[in-house]
Amino acid sequence: MNKWENPQLLEEHRLPPHAYFFAYADAETARSFARERSRRFLSLSGMWRFAYFDHPLQVPPSFYSEYMERWGEIEVPGMWQMQGHGHLQYTDDGMPFPVDPPYVPSSNPTGAYQCRWTLGPEWRGQRVVLRFDGVETYFEIYVNGSYAGMSKGSRLASEFDITALLNEGENLLSVRVLQWADASYLEDQDMWWTAGIFRDVYLIGKGAIHVQDVCVQTRFDDACRDATLACTIAISANAGWRLEWSLYDGARQLLQGGGKALTWEASVPAPRQWNAEDPYLYRLEISLYDDAGALLEVVPLRVGFREISVQDGLMYVNGRYLKLHGVNRHDNDQLRGRAVTMARVEQDIVLMKQHNINSVRTAHYPNDPRFYELCDQYGLFVMAETDVETHGFVNIGNLSQITDDPAWEAAFVDRIERHVHAQKNHPSIIIWSLGNESGYGCNIRAMAARCREIDPTRLIHYEEDRDAEVCDVVSTMYSRVQMMNAFGEYPMHKPRILCEYAHAMGNGPGGLSEYQAVMDRHPHLQGHYLWEWCDHAILQPDVPGRPFYAFGGDYGDYPNSGNFCCDGLIYPDQRPGPGLREYKQVIAPVKVRAIDAAAGRLEVENRYWFSSLDCITLLIETREDGESLRVQRVPLPPLPPGQRQEIRIAEPPSGTGQRYLNVRVIRDQATAYSAAQHELAVYQFALPSTSSLPVRAVAEPPVLTEHRLDYRIEGPGFHMVFCKLTGKLKEWVADGMPLLARAPQLTFYKPCIDNHKQENDALWLPQHLNILQEHLRGMEVVRNGGTVDIIVDCQIAPPILGYGMRCRYHYRVDGAGQLQLTLSGTPYGGFRDMIPKIGMTLGVNRSLGQVEYFGRGPGENYPDSKACNIIDRYRSAAADMFEHYPKPQDNGNRMDVIWATLHDSHGKGLRIDAPQGIHVSIWPYSAEQIAAARHDNELREDDYWTVNLDHKISGLGSNSWGSEVLDSYRVYLEQFSYSLTLSPLNKENGQ
Ligand code: GAL
Ligand code: MG
Repeated sequence: MNKWENPQLLEEHRLPPHAYFFAYADAETARSFARERSRRFLSLSGMWRFAYFDHPLQVPPSFYSEYMERWGEIEVPGMWQMQGHGHLQYTDDGMPFPVDPPYVPSSNPTGAYQCRWTLGPEWRGQRVVLRFDGVETYFEIYVNGSYAGMSKGSRLASEFDITALLNEGENLLSVRVLQWADASYLEDQDMWWTAGIFRDVYLIGKGAIHVQDVCVQTRFDDACRDATLACTIAISANAGWRLEWSLYDGARQLLQGGGKALTWEASVPAPRQWNAEDPYLYRLEISLYDDAGALLEVVPLRVGFREISVQDGLMYVNGRYLKLHGVNRHDNDQLRGRAVTMARVEQDIVLMKQHNINSVRTAHYPNDPRFYELCDQYGLFVMAETDVETHGFVNIGNLSQITDDPAWEAAFVDRIERHVHAQKNHPSIIIWSLGNESGYGCNIRAMAARCREIDPTRLIHYEEDRDAEVCDVVSTMYSRVQMMNAFGEYPMHKPRILCEYAHAMGNGPGGLSEYQAVMDRHPHLQGHYLWEWCDHAILQPDVPGRPFYAFGGDYGDYPNSGNFCCDGLIYPDQRPGPGLREYKQVIAPVKVRAIDAAAGRLEVENRYWFSSLDCITLLIETREDGESLRVQRVPLPPLPPGQRQEIRIAEPPSGTGQRYLNVRVIRDQATAYSAAQHELAVYQFALPSTSSLPVRAVAEPPVLTEHRLDYRIEGPGFHMVFCKLTGKLKEWVADGMPLLARAPQLTFYKPCIDNHKQENDALWLPQHLNILQEHLRGMEVVRNGGTVDIIVDCQIAPPILGYGMRCRYHYRVDGAGQLQLTLSGTPYGGFRDMIPKIGMTLGVNRSLGQVEYFGRGPGENYPDSKACNIIDRYRSAAADMFEHYPKPQDNGNRMDVIWATLHDSHGKGLRIDAPQGIHVSIWPYSAEQIAAARHDNELREDDYWTVNLDHKISGLGSNSWGSEVLDSYRVYLEQFSYSLTLSPLNKENGQ
C-alpha cells in the first residue's frame, strides 16, 4: 500500500504540534519578534535543485543521497505549476480524477527537491528541527541519504527532529513531493489544483533544555475590568531548569514571576483590552535558565487581553456585543498562486482595515503563521478555519462519505489538532472553524470535541453542522436577505453567522445595503463574511505579449469551472474593485443621517463596538452644480459605541442649482494602516433647489430637404441626415465634425455580467433577447414652428418568436442643431419578464476622448450598488470610464446623470442633457465585442465610443452563486418613455 493512499497513516517522525513561537538568546533580541534573529534559525528558502516527474517511481534512487548538479532550479517557496512544471487545473468542487478514496492517479505528478546547506559549529549540541510551513500535498524527506519522515496536511506546519542525521558542515536535504494523496480528498477547496513546497522551510536549533510549548489565556472578572493571565508551559526536560517571566506594557514591566511551576496565573489590574478596533498588545517574556543560573533562551509572546463569551444566545468579546463585518480570504497571488509573499499578505490586511472590514475567515485552510501575528497587530477578528473540505463527494451524491466514516477520523482530527495548537495564542482568533463543505458526521463531532479539549476559550464554527449540534455558532452560506431576516426574527439559542454571501464575481455584488439593513436589525445575526476577497486568476502573457488573467480552461484543463475563481473584491493584482468600495461604505462604522439637511440637522450613529468617536471629524461640504459653496469641519463628540446623537451645523447656503450636502467621515490621526485624514465613509443629502431649466435663444427653424433615400436637415454650422430605409439618424456633422459613428439604437440587452448568468441562460437567451431585430414600420416628418420633427415607428423583436416592443424614436431638431429625442415603447406578445435594461446606444466620434458629467460617481454604480458613489460633477478620460474585469462584461455605468459631455481637447463635441436622470456608460468597445470576449486582452478599441444612454437598468445582485436581483431592482419588458437632448458642444455654449 502506498503511504499516500492510506488515510490512517498521517505522518512518520513528525513532531507533535505546538504553538508557533521562537526562542531568542536574550531579552533584547526577543523584543524584535524577528524569527530570523532567534536563537538558532536558518532559513532554507531560496533556489533549490528540482526535477519534475510524472510518476513517483521515476525519481532516481540516487536523488536521496546525491546532489543532482545537473538538475534545474526552482524557487522555494513556490508552486511548481507557477514555475513551468506540471499542469494547472481549476475546479470548484470536482475532483480531477475518479472518486475512489483513498486512491489517486497512479501517474502522480512528483516534484523532487533538493537543498544543500552548511551547518556551522554554533549548531553543535543543538537539537535541530526542520520545519515546513506548507507543502502540497504529500511529502517525504531524506537527510544526507537517510529517510527522515513524511507528512500530509498541505496548509499545516510539519516539524521533524533531524539532529541524528546531520553533519557539521555540508548537508543535503531531498524532498519528494507528490501532488495527489488520500489527503487530496480532504483538500478539495474551490481553487487551483497546484503542488509544491509553497511556504517557508527552515531549521530551528534548540538546546537540550528548551521551551516546547506555551499556552497563554486571558480572562476578565465579572465587571470585565481586571484580568487573569494564565500560562501553561512545556519544557523538554523534567529538571535542571528554572523559569522567569515578565509582562511588559511597552517598555514598562508590569508583573514578574518565576520558579519551577509549569502553570501559573497572574492578576493584571485593568489592562487595556485587545479588540480589532484597538489591537493593544502586551509582551510576555519567558526566560529559561539552567540550574547554574545561565540564561538558556527567552521566548517572547504578544499578549492581547480579551475574552469571548456567549450569553443568552449572543456572542460577546470583552463583555461587549459585536458584529463581524467580514470577508473570506484565500491565499492567492497572480504570479505565485498560493505561495504568497508576506508583503502581499500584509497588504491584504492593510486593505481590509482601510475598507472597514473587522473580521476575516481564513477560507478554507490555515494561513502562514505570520498572518495571525499581523491580525493581532493590525486588529482583525479571525475565524480560523482548518484545512478540511471534501466537496468533491457531492458529485457522487454523498458529501459526507468520508466525513461520516470512522476510518478517516484520525485524518480529520489531526487537522484541527495541529491548527489549534499552532495558533492558540493569538488574541485575533475568536472562532475556530472545522473546515468547509464536507457534509456532516462522526468525524466532525470528533473534531469539535478535540478542538474544545485543546482550547475551551473560543467558539467553534462549521457551516454544515446545520443545527449547531456540536458548534457554538450556527451558520449558513448564501442565505437570501428574506431568509436572514426570518433567522433574525426567530433566533436560535446560539449566535448566527452567515459565513459566505454576496458572491463578488465580475461586476457586483449588488444588494449589499439590503443585506446590511437586515444584519444590523437583528441582534441574533452576529457576523457576515462576503465571498470573497480576491480574484484567483493568473497573470499570463498572450502570444503578442499582452498580459491577461487566465482562469479555468485556459491551460487546456478539463473539466474546469471557468472564471468562477474570479469572484473577489480585489483584482488578482490586489487592486481594489468597485465591490470593495461599496462594501466599505455599507459597513462603515459611523453612520450619518439627515434629520433635516436644509436646516443643518444631522444625526450621527457610532457603529463601532468598542470605540468612541472622539477621533473622528465630519467634513461637510455644500455643493451646487458641482461647485463648492462651503466647507465645514465638525469634530465629533466622544459618543460611545451604539449611540446616536444629533449634530447641528450652520444652515447650508441656499441656491438655485443642484445642491447637495456631502458629508465625509474622516479619522483624524494616522493609524498603522491609514494616513491621517483617512476617509471612512461618505454620505450625501440632496438639498431642495428651485431648478431653472436653461433658457435657450430661439433660433431660426432648420432647413429640411427631402431626397430619394433620405431627409436632410441643416442650419448654421450643422446638418443631419435621416435614412428613409431604416429611419436612422445616419449622419450628424456640427462645426465640420462628424458627431456620430453609429446611429441611436434602442436596446434591451447588454453584455451579460456573471451575476446575471442564471437569467441569461434560462430566460434571455431562450427568448433571443440578445439578437433582437429592428424593423421600420413608419416614418413621418413634420415641420413644427421652430423645429423639424422626425417620428420613426419601429418594431424591435427577436426572430422566431412572437413578442417584442413597438417603439418610437421621436427626433425634434431645432435651428441651433439641438436634437431632442423622445424614446418610447409598448410591449406586445407573451414575454413580460425581467430584462437587463431599457436604453439606447449610439456610437460617438472617437476624437471626443474626454468626458465630463453631472451624476453619480466617480466609480461605476448600479441601482443596487451605489452607496459609495455620490452625485457631483466629474471629469474623466473616456477610456477610464471602463472597468476592466478579467472576463469582460457590462460595466462602467454611472447613474443619475443629468448632463454629460464627450469632447476633444478644444472643448468641441457632444452634450447630452436628461434632467430626469439617466444611466450613462461609455466604452471604447462595442457591446458585441465585450459580450464575445473571454479575456480582457481580446478587446480591440473601436474607432468610435460606444455610449449607452439608458432609461432603466436592472440591479446586479450576486446570483453567480448568491442572491438573485431583489424585486425592486428588476427591470421588466414593459411600456416606457424617456427623453434626452443631444447638442453639439463648442466653446461658446461652453461646458
Ligand atoms: C461556496 C464555497 C466556496 C466557494 C463559493 C463559490 O459554496 O464554500 O469555497 O466555492 O461557494 O465561489
Ligand atoms: Mg467548495
